[in-house]
Amino acid sequence: MQERLISVELDDWQANGVDSAALAAALEDGKVLYFPKLAFAMSEAEQRFLSPAWSDGKAKNIGYDGAIDKLKGAQGDAADLAALKAMVKRYRESSINLITSLFPHYRQHLRIAQTSFRPSRVEGRVSSWRKDDSRLHVDAFPSRPNHGERILRVFNNVNPQGEPRQWRVGQRFDDVAARYLGQIGRPLPGSAALMNALHITKSRRSEYDHIMLQLHDRMKADPDYQANSPQLAFGFPPGSTWVCFSDQTPHAAMGGQFMFEQTLHLPVNGLHHPECSPLRVLERMRGYRLVA
Ligand code: SIN
Ligand code: FE
Repeated sequence: MQERLISVELDDWQANGVDSAALAAALEDGKVLYFPKLAFAMSEAEQRFLSPAWSDGKAKNIGYDGAIDKLKGAQGDAADLAALKAMVKRYRESSINLITSLFPHYRQHLRIAQTSFRPSRVEGRVSSWRKDDSRLHVDAFPSRPNHGERILRVFNNVNPQGEPRQWRVGQRFDDVAARYLGQIGRPLPGSAALMNALHITKSRRSEYDHIMLQLHDRMKADPDYQANSPQLAFGFPPGSTWVCFSDQTPHAAMGGQFMFEQTLHLPVNGLHHPECSPLRVLERMRGYRLVA
């Protein structure tokens, strides 16, 4: 399972002299790209933000939406919030810089989504099994159908006490799909239109989204899968960055505190190897198209 993690010696968010084709092939195959020396620099003054007290207590993460230039889920006075927002925006810029310099081919296809700062501790979070991210899962969100569009995430651990972000990384997507696809039925006729009309979903849920949600749920609800499927436990140390397609790579967060995460979306036709994407894998297995 060690091969699920590809270590890259890079210490600058502006990538230079890397084998872009090889890294893209690994990433699109569902591997985690791990940059042990790629730290996110925080100033002396910004160290004060390493506390869960900046969360407003409602959301577990502090989020930044670039489309409206707004920070959500944070509390503090105006000056503090402005400084916090500037820090999160800097992480966003760094992540975009990393991905576009590593993979110039992605640039024209990327749709930049949320940035999040996660000051809460992973351990001891109580939640339902479905929301429990300490269970191996692929990312799929009930209200946000993506019709096959990819979820690319850039993570960075900024823990000041030397605590790693403890993860488990699971087996290949093909193997996950092979395990569960036979148990997953087709969506109920009319259900996608109804959920859309009721605003349960932000757009119409495709059959692809239906299957991805089912995979997410079935993995999390399966104790045998959680305990016995091939997996790699790994602690990402502070000062390191890691990148994966979280809709493809099974992952679980087991421990740690203080992390940044940037989400970027990419259409299947923006990939170097579209045939490796969850959409194409599932379509090959089903034998028909899963998005209209
Ligand atoms: C997740 O993406 O499921 C959780 C990642 C983390 O909090 O480390
Ligand atoms: Fe996740």
